[in-house]
Amino acid sequence: MKFDIKKGPVNSKKADVLTIALNHRNQVINPELFDKDTLAHVKKFLALGDLANEVGKASNILGNELFARIVLVNIGDIELATNKQIFTAIKSVANLIKQLNIKNHSISFDQFLSTSKSYHQIAEYFSRAFIDATYLINSQKTTKKEPIKVFVNTIFYNGKDTNDLRLGLKHGTAIANGANLTKDLGNLPPNICTPTYLATIAKKVASSYGMKAKIYDQKQIEKLKMGSFLSVAQGSREAPKFIVVESLKGPKNKKPIVLIGKGITFDAGGISIKPSPDMDEMKYDMCGAATVLGTMKTIGELSLPLNIIFLIPSCENLPDGKAVKPGDIVKSMSGQTIEILNTDAEGRLILCDALTYAERYKPEAVIDIATLTGACVIALGHHATGLFSNDESLTEELKSAGIKSLDEAWPMPLWDEYQSQLNSNFADMANIGGRAAGSITAACFLSRFAKQYKWAHLDIAGTAWVSGKEKGGTGRPVPLLSQYLIDKIKK
Ligand code: BES
Ligand code: MN
Ligand code: ZN
Repeated sequence: MKFDIKKGPVNSKKADVLTIALNHRNQVINPELFDKDTLAHVKKFLALGDLANEVGKASNILGNELFARIVLVNIGDIELATNKQIFTAIKSVANLIKQLNIKNHSISFDQFLSTSKSYHQIAEYFSRAFIDATYLINSQKTTKKEPIKVFVNTIFYNGKDTNDLRLGLKHGTAIANGANLTKDLGNLPPNICTPTYLATIAKKVASSYGMKAKIYDQKQIEKLKMGSFLSVAQGSREAPKFIVVESLKGPKNKKPIVLIGKGITFDAGGISIKPSPDMDEMKYDMCGAATVLGTMKTIGELSLPLNIIFLIPSCENLPDGKAVKPGDIVKSMSGQTIEILNTDAEGRLILCDALTYAERYKPEAVIDIATLTGACVIALGHHATGLFSNDESLTEELKSAGIKSLDEAWPMPLWDEYQSQLNSNFADMANIGGRAAGSITAACFLSRFAKQYKWAHLDIAGTAWVSGKEKGGTGRPVPLLSQYLIDKIKK
């Protein structure tokens, strides 16, 4: 996928497809941007009244001499259109034209702009939409799906300053590439995407972008005294890994930001085994880890001048004669003891030790990303990631990064009242807090290991992948985290 920026009238270049944006009345926006012939052709078609007046809808019609096809996309009243409407419309265009046999596509950036909009952001949506649309799941098919042809998008822009446009396209490209890595890892089967495999990818990404990777194996994890993490790993024959990547490209004295991803490469529930239906989807239980690796790729591609540490505790959660049992009490790296009442609440057990490990960096902020609770899906559905934090400004930063990138996370309460649900008669705490407020009590559990710094927890159980016919990873929340990190540089 390529993006060229061009000045001048749209008809100065022939193209296989031209996209034209329409307003809420199905009229061409800024008609002066197009030549008479093309405009007359489109108006004639619109006069038939066949086109439904539906915001976000893209339709392909026969073109003329200059443009073999014309795609008409309704973006609504441009002064009132939200970023989400514009992104949805561009995605419809991308999804439509990826199926066409074309080499090049022209589109006018000017049509999508208005006084209230960030040019940078709109440009970012352009590159994200086109790269995202061409993503294919192919690695395990013997007959490969035909990869979508690389086509050139010529973006006409007649404003003075193209910097915002260029930078937006660049950021969007890096974000989409990072998200595609996240999707790839999530979509792999759990017999391939093991903790060892994740470690290999981490080393690979780190070495491509001048970052330092260190992989702790079972023995070294024992030395770190990560008793809680290891209790989950003990029921599996796959070797657990604790992955640490350091990307220190910011000012020397600046405290780092730490990202931690849950890397359960398969979650059968352990002895508290899950029911069979849809259990295959628990291969996606490493999507937190995959998000961390995808974000690593994005910030590597952009060589952001930041200090960032990436941590991934990774293992499987399986039933076995040696597996941890309900009633077992384990000692975490922090020294706090945990009574395991349900072995299926394993995410928090591996994350808590990574949170303690993060203390050594005296971090500016720590963010963990995890497919942590089914309860989060009940609370927020599949649209928003659950956002929990012990710091109000961090909450605001993540929430607004989610809104900007259209990869939303929404705040949930983390009040002290919920903590007592984790009381245990036998250890410092239990690993579950009952049915009520399941995603909150899971976050409460983590908060007990995150007292030394500003911390946020993103529960991506509802947003990391989609089920059903279109089953697949979404690459979320790579856009949100990338936006959060990009915004950090401006500060
Ligand atoms: N990985 C699951 C959470 C999950 C379940 C994500 C379904 C997406 C869809 C997690 O390890 C888990 O099993 N959580 C339990 C916690 C419970 C035992 C307190 C859950 O949500 O049922
Ligand atoms: Mn589980
Ligand atoms: Zn899990």
